Amino acid sequence: MAVKQISKDIYLINTLHWERRLFDELIPLPEGTTYNAYLIKGKEKVALIDSTDTLKVEEFFNDLKYLEVERIDYIISNHAEQDHSGAIPAVLDKYRDAKVVTNEKCAELLITHLQIPRERIMIINENDTLNIGGKTLRFIMTPWVHWPETQTTLLEEEKIAFTCDFFGAHLATTDFITEGSPEVYNSAKRYYAEIMAPFRNIIPKNIEKIVNFNPKMICPSHGPIYSNPQLIIDAYKEWSSDRVKNLALLVYVSMHHSTEKAVRILEQKLVDYGVQAKVMSLTSADIGEMAMNLVDAATLILATPTVLGSAHPNALSAALLANLLRPKTKFLAVVNSYGWGGKTLEDLKNIMTNFKGELLEPVTFKGLPDKEAEEKLNNLAKIIAGKHRELNLI
Ligand SMILES: Cc1cc2nc3c(=O)[nH]c(=O)nc-3n(C[C@H](O)[C@H](O)[C@H](O)COP(=O)(O)O)c2cc1C
Ligand SMILES: [Fe+2]
Ligand SMILES: [Fe+2]
Repeated sequence: MAVKQISKDIYLINTLHWERRLFDELIPLPEGTTYNAYLIKGKEKVALIDSTDTLKVEEFFNDLKYLEVERIDYIISNHAEQDHSGAIPAVLDKYRDAKVVTNEKCAELLITHLQIPRERIMIINENDTLNIGGKTLRFIMTPWVHWPETQTTLLEEEKIAFTCDFFGAHLATTDFITEGSPEVYNSAKRYYAEIMAPFRNIIPKNIEKIVNFNPKMICPSHGPIYSNPQLIIDAYKEWSSDRVKNLALLVYVSMHHSTEKAVRILEQKLVDYGVQAKVMSLTSADIGEMAMNLVDAATLILATPTVLGSAHPNALSAALLANLLRPKTKFLAVVNSYGWGGKTLEDLKNIMTNFKGELLEPVTFKGLPDKEAEEKLNNLAKIIAGKHRELNLI
C-alpha cells in the first residue's frame, strides 16, 4: 500500500503490485505494475478517480483508512476495465451516498462487468464539468486508449490530466512523480507497444485533446505521474507516427538449430548491408520485447521450421500477436526450414491480414541452409537494405 499527497488536497492512492508478472493473462510485466487512484478533496465534495484491481480491494480499503477518508461523493470512472474499476462495488457499499460519474458507454460496461446498479451512476458527456468546491473537474472522451469508453478527467485549477491507461506504464516504483528517466521511458514504451499500438490511428487525436488542455501534470493509472508532460506527449507522438527506423527485427524459433543457422547468416548479411538487426528467440524473449521493437522496426522477419504441416506453434502465435498489434512495419519476410512439406508460408500469410506493407520473397530450404539458401538470404538482406535506403532510413 502507498498513499502520497501530490498537490493541495489531492492524494495518489497507489496500489503497488510488485510481484505481478502477467497482465490480461498475456502481457509480461517484468517490473510489476501499479493501479493508481486519486482522491480529490473539494471544499464541498470528495471525488475519487478510479480505484484498483479486483485482486487488491482489501489493500485499497487499508489505504482509504490510512487517509482517514470519511466520505466519498463521486467515484469518477475513467475506464471500466477491472484493474481500475475492481474496487468500485465495494466503495459504493461502504460510502452509501457515493455516485459513480462516467459516460454512458462506460456505465454500460460497469453494469455488465461489475454489476453496478444503474441508479448509482451519474452520466456525464464530453466537456461536462463537476464542481466539488474550489475544484472543477472536466470530462473529455479519449476513446480507444484503451477501450471504446475510456475518458480523461481534467482538473482545471491545477491543470492536471487524469488519463487512466493513456500514458501509463507497467512499472512498480515508489518514485511516484517523475520528470522522466530512461527506466520510465522504457516501461511507458513497452506499455504503449502492448496496449495502445493497435489503436495507433486514433491516438494523435487523443493526444491533441490533452495538449489543448496544456497540462502541468499527467496522472495516469499505471506507473509514475509525469511532472513534465511534454516528455511523454512527445514520446507518444513519435510512437504513434508513421515513422519507422532502420531496424530489421528477426524473430525466430528453431528446434534443431537449422532455422537458427539461417538467422545467423541473415544477421551477418544485414550488418554487411548497413541494416540494424535485432534477433529475438521466441523461446527466451518475452512477447513484450517483440511488441516494443515493432513500434520502430521497418522490417519484420519471421523465421520458423515447419512442424506438423505448418509453422511452429510459437511462430504462429507470434504472427497472430504481431498482426493484432497492427504494427507500422513496412516490410515482412519469412525464413523457413522444412523436411518434406507443409503450408507454413500460406498459414503465416493468412494470419497477417492486418499487415499493409510489402511481403518480401520468402527464403525456404530443406534442413540446414545450403549454398543456395545462403545466396537467398544474402539477397533478402540486400533487398531489405535497398528498401530501407529508399525510405532514407540508412
Ligand atoms: C516435431 C516435428 C514435426 C515436423 N513436422 C514437419 C512437417 O509437417 N513438414 C515438414 O516439412 N517438416 C517437418 N518437420 C521437419 C522440420 O521442419 C525440419 O527438420 C527443419 O529443418 C527443422 O528446423 P529446425 O532445426 O530449425 O528446428 C518436423 C520436425 C519435427 C521435430
Ligand atoms: Fe485498460
Ligand atoms: Fe489499466
